[in-house]
Amino acid sequence: MTAVAIDGPAGAGKSTAARAAAKRLGFVYVDTGALYRAVGCHMRALGIPAGDARQVEKALEGLEVSLEFSEGGQHVLLNGRDVTGELRTPEASLAASQFSALPCVRSFLFGLQQQLAERHSVVMDGRDIGTVVLPKAQVKVFLTASPEERARRRFEEMRQKGENAEYQQVLEELQQRDYQDAHRAVAPLKPAEDAVLLDTTGLSLQEVVERLVALVNEKLK
Ligand code: DC
Repeated sequence: MTAVAIDGPAGAGKSTAARAAAKRLGFVYVDTGALYRAVGCHMRALGIPAGDARQVEKALEGLEVSLEFSEGGQHVLLNGRDVTGELRTPEASLAASQFSALPCVRSFLFGLQQQLAERHSVVMDGRDIGTVVLPKAQVKVFLTASPEERARRRFEEMRQKGENAEYQQVLEELQQRDYQDAHRAVAPLKPAEDAVLLDTTGLSLQEVVERLVALVNEKLK
């Protein structure tokens, strides 16, 4: 099996580029952010605050999270219910960032991510894939772009979906998440020592995908 780990901050274009690269390579694309989003939404729905690790741990006991893959992409199931359509809201982003700081949430999702990489060749994106989840990944990439560029992309994406968004607010939320993700005690967002840094500011999606595919082909030669 081959594993490609793609980490980086919110809005760097990880998921779109990783999905396209996986398709080109014939690998399974795994969006680990969706797992944290699903758990975050579940805790929010139960009214559990992110500060209460004991209650979170209890709620995780009876929870089953699984992934299914289809032509249309990845689906996240919570206790058998497909919650994929509920995960891309600003509330889900914030909940994911808050609850993902808890060690019990990270260890809860750790095994599932590792199992997927044992069974399939994967392109897996997240924050700690190259550093913690798949430290032996054959290819590790840290994708970045300036905060302004990342906020602009998010803002355009939301506008295209007909959502009401303000650029300044998108930028502030993104910077808040960057800070939370990079400063948590467990598995903070940072490049693995052996990761290739790829700044996507000014690059088109096509160019990013080409670079990813070239990096993988180079490694597998
Ligand atoms: O990639 P994303 O925006 O869907 O991720 C949502 C949040 O989940 C992100 O702010 C931090 C957390 N996350 C994480 O801690 N570790 C991962 N491997 C993926 C996401």
